[in-house]
Amino acid sequence: MASSLQCVDCAQQYPIQRVIYSCEACGGLLDVRHDFGDPSIAISPSLFDERLGTFAAPYNSGVWRFKELVYPGVDDSAIVTRMEGNTNLYELPRVASYAGVDSLFLKHEGENPTGSFKDRGMTTGVTQARILGMERVACASTGNTSASMASYAARADMQGIIFLQNQQIALGKLAQGIAFGATCLEINADFDRNMELVRQVSEKLGIYLLNSINPFRLEGQKSIMFEALQQLRWHVPDWIVVPGGNLGNSSAFGKGLLEMIQVGLIDRLPRLAIIQAEGANPLYRHFRDGFRQYEPVNADTIATAIKIGNPVNLQKAIRALEWTSGVVEQVSDQQIMDAKAIIDGVGIGCEPASACSVAGAKKLAERGIIKRGDTVLGILTGHVLKDPEATIGYHADQLPGLSPQHQNVMLQVEDDFDAIVRVLGKRAP
Ligand code: F0G
Repeated sequence: MASSLQCVDCAQQYPIQRVIYSCEACGGLLDVRHDFGDPSIAISPSLFDERLGTFAAPYNSGVWRFKELVYPGVDDSAIVTRMEGNTNLYELPRVASYAGVDSLFLKHEGENPTGSFKDRGMTTGVTQARILGMERVACASTGNTSASMASYAARADMQGIIFLQNQQIALGKLAQGIAFGATCLEINADFDRNMELVRQVSEKLGIYLLNSINPFRLEGQKSIMFEALQQLRWHVPDWIVVPGGNLGNSSAFGKGLLEMIQVGLIDRLPRLAIIQAEGANPLYRHFRDGFRQYEPVNADTIATAIKIGNPVNLQKAIRALEWTSGVVEQVSDQQIMDAKAIIDGVGIGCEPASACSVAGAKKLAERGIIKRGDTVLGILTGHVLKDPEATIGYHADQLPGLSPQHQNVMLQVEDDFDAIVRVLGKRAP
């Protein structure tokens, strides 16, 4: 089964051994294209169902379980995996009623080994780095990509190099990059500038770039859709709702969904809703403008994971929106943090950016775009422990400009039996 790289704009093809991230002819983004027509491999629900629960590598990974759709020709011995994926799908009536819909599922990608969906793209990206014989890998990151890359690079005995924006990275993510032994560069620039820098430096020094502009990343991230649909027994939901930052995930979802149609796993497409923070909303603005004039923005939001003003995967995300009759919505920091408190409060939890899925579904339901009877699948992208400062700041009412609507106040009590009994005797309001 042959795979190749193909430009999304002019369809120029390149062999997959080439180290390129954009088309040499026109500058367009590249897809990894697989030939699914090989009659020796029958892709069917049962192929993937038979592998559920196996201990056998690489099929015990929730990415490589779908190897025929992710990277069919790869030699198993080249695969760098942490048995990523296999994340839970929760049906949450309380969160559904908050969002104003009858049926809401949340797939928790924070349950991946390093606590975010990035692991699904990193297993494929670092595997390709190994195939290409790379010794050094690099990324710019708002935190999760770097945490994941640092882990997978360490597993593959490669040097991970991460370009971090100054002072805005959530504590849990920073700690992971340092702990996993990556070379961490704290650069006095925002994510978008760091993205430019890492591309230039990687090219100059022959370092393999592992941001989501690398199409092998997106091949792994497609598996979120494969696994979710498998968990839903291949019943297609009406909506997939996902936060949008650098737009790698939404691009991957579009490609994965289309491929599922091509190979006959599903017979219709869900609609994609990409949710951006109001302060980091270049795709939203472009969508509202009918995709006429595109302008990057100077990003600012409490959801630091998606504090991105010029997403590299813009064209692929637009394509995914076109394929799925998708929509783009924006939500305020207040809406993000209130939705997060609801998701946290049912015992599931997530980091701020992830809460865009629920805040966005709520807003789209209020606007009548998502109908109450629609089935909605939201993606939680990162773990609750990634950004403890945002969580504690919210509940302590210490976030500037925000007023928590679902506060869980920490109670101060004296070292005194009666005082504790008095406090606990009253039921919480
Ligand atoms: N949610 C979380 C928790 C993220 O870390 C990111 C992206 C997104 C959503 C947005 O996903 O970029 O595919 O649209 N984080 C990147 C990083 C940019 O560097 O960790 P996207």
